[in-house]
This record gives sequence, structure tokens and C-alpha cells, in this order.
Amino acid sequence: MEIMRLSAPLGAEEALSLRAGQRVLLSGTIYTARDAAHRRLCELLARGGEPPFPLEGAVIYYCGPAPAPPGRPIGAAGPTTSYRMDAYAPTLLRLGELGMIGKGKRSEQVVDAMKEYGLPVIAAGGIADGRQMAAALALRWGADEESARRAALLHDCTKKFDKELQLALCRQYGIEPDAAERREGKLLHAITGAAVAYADFGVSGEVRDAIRWHTTGKADMKLLEKIIYLADYIEPTRDFCDLTELRRLAFEDLDGALLLGFTMAVEDLAKKGMPVHPNSVLARDYLKGKRP
Ligand SMILES: [Fe+2]
Repeated sequence: MEIMRLSAPLGAEEALSLRAGQRVLLSGTIYTARDAAHRRLCELLARGGEPPFPLEGAVIYYCGPAPAPPGRPIGAAGPTTSYRMDAYAPTLLRLGELGMIGKGKRSEQVVDAMKEYGLPVIAAGGIADGRQMAAALALRWGADEESARRAALLHDCTKKFDKELQLALCRQYGIEPDAAERREGKLLHAITGAAVAYADFGVSGEVRDAIRWHTTGKADMKLLEKIIYLADYIEPTRDFCDLTELRRLAFEDLDGALLLGFTMAVEDLAKKGMPVHPNSVLARDYLKGKRP
């Protein structure tokens, strides 16, 4: 499909010509705002105030930035979950907003408002976010940025495969999964992803190993392995639990962040009654043993 080039602010005619699945290359002026900014904006409008930027044709990017690495104005940023903006979006759509960049489902009210005003949503997924986060961490900790991007791009390359195919790939690449990995099929994608990335995509051994350990971790991880494990955990679209402290630590104390990450992961699985892979426990205990 051809990519449509658009420039924000959008004209109603070009916005309305968009169809589901259309690929878009968007440039121009794009505003970033999350829930707090939306709330303030709507409160201001309700008081009869002038919006701080023209809403006519505006595209608003629901942007979730990670903490800024030292010396940088902003950390890696990616689209955040859209429902946080659902209470405010109908007001902005009525006043001329023509594009929303975010991810996840929208409420009925937002969908109704979109139908009423005939407006498009411009959605974005999570791959770019993991790559940006991995690159930012690589930059901060002195790892090779390109290797980090590559590992982040390919780390889940076999994730959609079912267990049968995962096990077939293990046999094809001469890998013997351990008992826990066989039981918990989800863990297999790290093993097969690493093998496929190495054999079929030609990544380096360093990138392969970073993919291999991105799910369970292990004791005594190498720099890129740490970065990919953490990037996967804290990339901006992850919002299954409060990651504020982990995101802050990731740019200040890499091993401290890993220790917190493994501790959280192990506790979370135990709380859900799910099996914890021994490598994650070993990773946590190894890091704990290294702390002063
Ligand atoms: Fe994964």
C-alpha cells in the first residue's frame, strides 16, 4: 500500500480521505499532551479561555516519555494508552482536532464523537518504543546503539508462533529447552527468537544473546543483555504497573534498576501464582550479592 504523506495541521478533506489501514507519513506541527494536559486544556475551554494552540486541524500525540538521561532534555518517548484521554477527546474533536496518535481501545463516547465529526485516529504501535528505549539506554551506558536497536527490533520475532512451532524451531536449531521453558511455552520465544535472529537475520552473537535472555534474564548478564531486558520492561507503552522508579533508576544505576526489575518480576509472577523461571531468581540473587 502506498504511503500517504500528510502535514499537520491537517485539512479536513485529506483527513477524511483516510481509510483504515492506510499507511501515513506525518510531518508538520504535532502537539504532545497526555491526561493532565488534556484536563487543563478542557478546564480552560470550559472557563471560556483560548486554547494555547489552534485546535483546528490539530494532531495530538499521546506521548509517554521516559525520564531524561543526564544531559538530555527528554528520554525515549512513545505513544501511550489512549483511554486516559477518553474523557477529554470528544471536546477537542468537536473543536477541530483532526488526529490522535496513541494506542489501545477508545471509549464508546470517543468512537461516537469520531463518527459524528468523521475524524481519523492515527495509531502507533509499540515496536518503535522498545527500539527507542533500547537506544537511549545504550547511549547512556556506552553500549553499541545499533546493536541495541537491532536486538530490540528482533527480540520478539517469534513471539506469535504457537508452542508446537516454537518446539519445532528448537529442534531445527538443536536447542534443548529446560523443563520450565517447555512447561511455560511463552518463554520459548526468547530462545527461538535468538536462534532465528542469528541464523536468518545475521545478527551478531552479542545481539543474539541479548535476545536470548530478554525474558528470564540470568546471573551475570552482559551490558547489552541488561539493556534489552530493561528496555523491554520499561518502554513507554508498558503500563501494567507503576514503573516510575524503575524508569528513573534505569538511567542512574543500571544494576540497581535490574535488581528492582527482577525483584518486581519475580514477586509479580508469584502473586499471580505463575511459575518463576530459576534464571530470574538467580539473576536477582546475583545482583543482590553484588550490592554493598
Ligand atoms: Fe519477549
